[in-house]
Amino acid sequence: MKQFIQVGDVSDIQALIHKGLEYKQDPFMDKMLGANKRVGLLFLNPSLRTRLSTQIAAKNLGMDAVVFNVDKEGWALEFAEGAIMNGTTVEHVKDAAPILGQYFDILCIRTFPALQNRDEDYAETIINQFIKYAGVPVVSLESATLHPLQSLTDLITIQESITATQLIKKPKVVLTWAPHVKALPQCVANSFAQWATAANFADVVVTHPAGYELSASYTKGATITHDQAAALEGADFVYVKNWSSYNDYGKVFSTDPAWMLTANTLKHSNNAKVMHCLPVRRNVELSDEILDSSSSLVTKQAGNRVWAAQAVLSTILSSKK
Ligand code: CP
Repeated sequence: MKQFIQVGDVSDIQALIHKGLEYKQDPFMDKMLGANKRVGLLFLNPSLRTRLSTQIAAKNLGMDAVVFNVDKEGWALEFAEGAIMNGTTVEHVKDAAPILGQYFDILCIRTFPALQNRDEDYAETIINQFIKYAGVPVVSLESATLHPLQSLTDLITIQESITATQLIKKPKVVLTWAPHVKALPQCVANSFAQWATAANFADVVVTHPAGYELSASYTKGATITHDQAAALEGADFVYVKNWSSYNDYGKVFSTDPAWMLTANTLKHSNNAKVMHCLPVRRNVELSDEILDSSSSLVTKQAGNRVWAAQAVLSTILSSKK
């Protein structure tokens, strides 16, 4: 694997899930694989889980991890080709990225979308410029449109939580929009839809109010409905997430509290397990009664971020040999 930006970078999704679950059983089984190797974790935006789990994953493989908060500690980077840099940006990515490529064997980057201009965000200019100029494998720690380490984690979590009965029939996995107090990117929803449909292990349903349609390029193969109650009927896993509009880019049309997931909205599910990538706005996206119940997988899910990151880093290290 040369880079980890989206599901198409993975040749065998099931093998990667299996590798993550193997690391969960035996975290140090490849403790020498990353000896004398260094991974750089560049954050242009905040993080709790991604920054910590990826450092732990690197350590489990014997790698050194260096965290650099570019947004707070670095020079303001320019990403536009041919830019006349007489404004606020100080250093061009084509100067900075090759240096980082000398310092690190793998470069990991978090960069959120600005949610102002869809074409600019969906062009993924920032992460693509690092890929172009760094000269080492690049791993997305969440980019403008996708969050692949989260999605791999989500599939690992579903796989380990699936019951024997759910294996006989295909499980029903529902991605439901939830209200929020601010406009959020589509990344986690795009990415989950992309990975869940590509893995082809479940009937995938996406439900949201009118106006929150995701790009069809990520939801191909999923059933899409505005009827949350119908979507949740018989659901085995429910993934809760807010996102802003893709078509009317970055806009928020509805914050209808009826879309918050509660025990009542889940009552016709198949005793569904509930997932969320975190951080979560309690009693806005998801009720306390769900988050604090045995239905919630969110803590287990966040713990699994380590094994997803370890599976990805080890696959890249193995293919670099
Ligand atoms: N889910 C997730 O990516 O969490 P952080 O933003 O805290 O890294």
